[in-house]
Amino acid sequence: MNELPTRVCIVEVGPRDGLQNEPSHVSADVKAELIERLIDAGVRYVEAASFVSPKWVPQMADGAQVLERVVNKARATGTTLAALVPNMKGLEAALASHVAEVAVFAAASESFSQKNINCSIDDSIARFEPVIDAAREANLRVRGYVSCVLGCPFEGDIAPQAVARVAKKLFDMGCYEISLGDTIGAGTPSKTQAMLDACIEHVPAEALAGHFHDTWGMAAANVHAALQRGIAVFDSSVSGIGGCPYSPGATGNVATEDIVYLCDGMGIETGIDLSKLADAGAFISAALKRETSSRVARALNAKRRRQEQQCI
Ligand code: HMG
Ligand code: MG
Repeated sequence: MNELPTRVCIVEVGPRDGLQNEPSHVSADVKAELIERLIDAGVRYVEAASFVSPKWVPQMADGAQVLERVVNKARATGTTLAALVPNMKGLEAALASHVAEVAVFAAASESFSQKNINCSIDDSIARFEPVIDAAREANLRVRGYVSCVLGCPFEGDIAPQAVARVAKKLFDMGCYEISLGDTIGAGTPSKTQAMLDACIEHVPAEALAGHFHDTWGMAAANVHAALQRGIAVFDSSVSGIGGCPYSPGATGNVATEDIVYLCDGMGIETGIDLSKLADAGAFISAALKRETSSRVARALNAKRRRQEQQCI
């Protein structure tokens, strides 16, 4: 067991991973207000947009407008704004916007790579090479994603070595951090640790992040398992919103509220105020006309209601 981190960085992906897959339409104003509320809660890294083909993911077509609305607040608070880019066209859009970082996204499964970005894993790596070089020349840091690290919706089990191969390639190409995505949310703590052990042989734990979807309810347990391996960066989505449009049946990411509560309970700093975060979650849940998926937010809201009733 590695030493537990004393501080965890939350990468809030709700405005991107969350809203890319919600059936309800959310305006750029609502997206911007969500991001501002997250910043007010102490979030300091927001994946705010995705410069992909609007034919593939129409929910993300207004990324530039969203960034325009939130850039001043982000700069004033030292918050990093980031966006997904699948190719040079996406990078050009990102360069014309207000992001400080971009993320390229590959997969450990061939079938998922084809469904998600219409090319093989090796072709995607070749496509990312000039994107990463051009982004770094323009002083943008580049994050790399690997999807399907704990299973694929089309192929089932994925070997940890297949994940490590893609993670190493992205890291060697200049991605400063590799986010390991359990896209289908089927992972368990022991599988998480086996996959991480394979990756840590090639990429230092400090350069790895966990990105767990919560379909089977194991995401918080997987975060706990990853903490034991020294992972200190986790992607999460406020209120647990979203999923991946090319991963049938997968639900949203682990709720940010759940990770913050877990870390608070372990004495690990996140810099995030749970109560304000839950308010941001209530805001977006209301806009989407859905219940929160965060068990922590539900418990907190029920506690608040009991306290209000006692005051009446
Ligand atoms: P393609 O059809 O092979 O691309 O799609 P193309 O180069 O042939 O272009 C087709 C059309 O798209 C053209 O327009 C291009 O101009 C346009 P047309 O001539 O037909 O009018 N186009 C673009 N438009 C705007 N921005 C761009 C762009 N690129 C091309 N950047 C492509 C290939 C990669 C574009 C497509 O497959 C795509 O956009 N895929 C994105 C899918 C996606 O966003 N998935 C969700 C994100 S990944 C995820 O959620 C997983 C993650 O959370 C981690 C995890 O959980 O595992 C990160
Ligand atoms: Mg995801």
